[in-house]
Amino acid sequence: YSEEDRAEDYLFKVVLIGDSAVGKSNLLARFARDEFYPNSKSTIGVEFQTQKMDINGKEVKAQIWDTAGQERFRAVTSAYYRGAVGALLVYDISRRQTFDSIGRWLNELHTHSDMNVVTILVGNKSDLKDAREVTTAEGKALAEAQGLFFMETSALDSSNVTAAFQTVVTEIY
Ligand code: GTP
Ligand code: MG
Repeated sequence: YSEEDRAEDYLFKVVLIGDSAVGKSNLLARFARDEFYPNSKSTIGVEFQTQKMDINGKEVKAQIWDTAGQERFRAVTSAYYRGAVGALLVYDISRRQTFDSIGRWLNELHTHSDMNVVTILVGNKSDLKDAREVTTAEGKALAEAQGLFFMETSALDSSNVTAAFQTVVTEIY
């Protein structure tokens, strides 16, 4: 094995999915660059970032893929999911409609990727306390019913962002 071959063993593809404007791109921006965009535009096509992570003292690389929640801006679905070993399934705690879509996103994930892709349900925008439409208990219950990890995050105030990615990659590893 060359150094490079071995490095490949620790490169994990993780996909971000969920409705438009739930904060997928900002979760990635916060995680990978510690940045936040108050007025970010919808993603068009596919973007990805590779992020080094320390998992139990070992350096692993997560290649995190981000695409549009809106159908018309999305690239070929099967290519997006191909090879994914982890997924963050994101909704916005201040918009119930985005929580109601989770079943549909799970179906798509299971159609296009391995059944045992490590998945975390992420209720983003936990900073919007006064606008909350989905309780923490509801998120937890759905995650339990579907066998998913669960966390509420805020890309705005950084809460649980690293933890959410870390949970998925640790479990893959
Ligand atoms: P698409 O690319 O269209 O699928 O959207 P997206 O899921 O990537 O959402 P994006 O990250 O572009 O965020 C949409 C809007 O929500 C932006 O105005 C962000 O600033 C805002 N936003 C993202 N995360 C948070 C958060 O944790 N809290 C608050 N208050 N706003 C957020
Ligand atoms: Mg986006």
